[in-house]
Amino acid sequence: MRIALPTPTMNTMNIEEFSKKLSEILSAAEKEFRLADSSHLAVVRAKFLGRKGELAKVMRALGSLPADVKPEAGKLANNTKQKLEKIFAQFEPQKISVHKKFDPTLPGRKPAIGGIHPLEWTLRKMVDIFYGMGFSVASGPEIETEYYNFDALNTPEDHPARDIQDTFYLQKPGYLLRTQTSPVQIRVMESQKPPVRIIAPGRCYRRDAIDATHYYTFTQVEGLYVDKDVTLADLKGVLTAFAKQFIGKNVRVRFRPHFFPFTEPSVEYDFSCPVCDGKGCRVCKGTGWLEISGAGMVDPEVFKTVGYNPDEVQGYAFGMGVERIAMVKFGIDDIRLLYENDLAFLEQF
Ligand code: PHE
Repeated sequence: MRIALPTPTMNTMNIEEFSKKLSEILSAAEKEFRLADSSHLAVVRAKFLGRKGELAKVMRALGSLPADVKPEAGKLANNTKQKLEKIFAQFEPQKISVHKKFDPTLPGRKPAIGGIHPLEWTLRKMVDIFYGMGFSVASGPEIETEYYNFDALNTPEDHPARDIQDTFYLQKPGYLLRTQTSPVQIRVMESQKPPVRIIAPGRCYRRDAIDATHYYTFTQVEGLYVDKDVTLADLKGVLTAFAKQFIGKNVRVRFRPHFFPFTEPSVEYDFSCPVCDGKGCRVCKGTGWLEISGAGMVDPEVFKTVGYNPDEVQGYAFGMGVERIAMVKFGIDDIRLLYENDLAFLEQF
């Protein structure tokens, strides 16, 4: 919309007329700015403030004013100019503020895309290392049967692990949440002939009292190798190779005698503490060693159960506690942090 302005008659103006023209320009501008949509603001601005705009026209008449009023007229004109600028700014507030705040030297803002959970990171890395040593990846169900979780693993009826205090049983008789990944050993051997070289990563469940090192669910990586002429030295070799790749060249592995129903002999194995290099520190509670899990040579009874001939093949099996390894790797002192999804904790990874 256009508002017609009386054209100032340049040569014959006096100070009163000059001042009147200025206030006319001002009120016309105010109206037009108010009515202009945002795409027209620049046009309206040019109409009033531009080089050939209304204000400039009036300014040109300044020269023809009597010398004694020129300073005052100049002041008035400047004043009007400032007011026009102000009106303009008021109608384009966003543009003005964006211009002022934008700092092209600031680094860009990184969108929050999330990271890999430390437990998942550890699991992937473990799987990767074993994959590199020729193990393929097998899996089994988390809802297991008593047969696979205990019977087939040569675990006697009265073994304490079967106790209702240690195992989550389902209402459906014979079913439970697996307490270990070892039942995957049975499932794999049932379905394929030796040689077998697998790992089985996955969730397990136990009715442990929850504290800084125990949780009702945790993760294991099971390992099983069955072939001709497999010995306990091979087991130690593969665990050592894993430890060196995961933790570092200086790590040592030690075996302590133990008992599992499905291995004979059975061991518990430790990695030397990478934090103090075995000297003893807070992380290893002064022992110089970190308990990782259990392992051993597959019991001939287990081979018989799956239809392998124990006179022809031998095998080793091991379990690894993934939480334990993640906690050492990342310096985490409470297993619950890995499961409780506290964002302040997770955002560090
Ligand atoms: N399943 C055992 C446990 O959870 C660990 C283990 C695996 C022991 C394989 C021997 C062989 O404690």
